[in-house]
Amino acid sequence: MDLQLNGKRVLVTGASKGIGLATVRAFVAEGAVVTGVARRASDELEATGAAFVAADLATPDGPQRMVEAVLAADPRLDVLVNNVGGGVLSSLDAFADPFDGGDDDWTTAFALNLDAAVRTTRAALPALVSARGAVINISSDSARRPAAAPLHYSAAKAALNSFSRGLAEKVAASGVRVNVVTPSGTRTPLMTDRDGFGAQVATVMGVDQQAFLKEVPRQGGMLTGELIDPAEIARAVLLLASPTMPSVIGSNWTVDAGSIKAS
Ligand SMILES: NC(=O)c1ccc[n+]([C@@H]2O[C@H](COP(=O)([O-])OP(=O)(O)OC[C@H]3O[C@@H](n4cnc5c(N)ncnc54)[C@H](OP(=O)(O)O)[C@@H]3O)[C@@H](O)[C@H]2O)c1
Repeated sequence: MDLQLNGKRVLVTGASKGIGLATVRAFVAEGAVVTGVARRASDELEATGAAFVAADLATPDGPQRMVEAVLAADPRLDVLVNNVGGGVLSSLDAFADPFDGGDDDWTTAFALNLDAAVRTTRAALPALVSARGAVINISSDSARRPAAAPLHYSAAKAALNSFSRGLAEKVAASGVRVNVVTPSGTRTPLMTDRDGFGAQVATVMGVDQQAFLKEVPRQGGMLTGELIDPAEIARAVLLLASPTMPSVIGSNWTVDAGSIKAS
């Protein structure tokens, strides 16, 4: 199937590893011209041939400055993938708190999981309108299973869903389609790195990280019993970005192995 993504200009945030890296690889394979953003480059991202822009998207002016740098290199932009998100808790003590930490944890989680997408989209919207392009935001099943993750993360992702749905309606007439992909547990450095969120949870649970990773699908009600391959999330992103899907507007596609039990 030709997704008609050949030559499209694509911007992917959180692109150095995990779902973002898989998304870059998938767009490059379709012939798209991709720019990836993260705080630091990675060998894997460099190997894709994508351009790289360094930015801390959790800062108030990071997203706008990043978009300005990307558009200075090429003012055309067809697809924006707001993938950056996740994060770690400031201390293990936060796991014992019903609020999952204090104001700093909440502010940090919202900056990375909501504000970065709002600010990046705001800065990129004029270019996306010119291209009659697409925005894809990466949410989480935690938005709909809030107690299964830190509450600030779940709440920020729920707000991202609401923002995405509302923006989709406000900009549809200008030809820009906004949609969401909702993954559940996915095998990325967020889960597998020794200093990532998965390592924190494993420590709190008192198990080694491999045991924790095996446990995630069962505890999350994932019916495959397996963590998701990031390439599978990327395939959903590509389909939503494709001009062959002009009627997909304001949707939220779950790629969650059945973890969300509501219909
Ligand atoms: N993995 C899962 O199980 C899962 C499940 C549901 C939803 N999700 C969502 O999927 C998305 C991707 O998650 P992932 O698991 O692929 O995460 P990941 O493996 O931790 O990768 C995160 C990416 O974001 C970049 N990043 C982190 N903080 C940044 C910042 N302040 N500014 C710019 N870039 C930053 C990282 O590079 P640097 O560190 O170099 O900046 C990296 O490229 C997130 O929105 C996450 O919430 C993940």
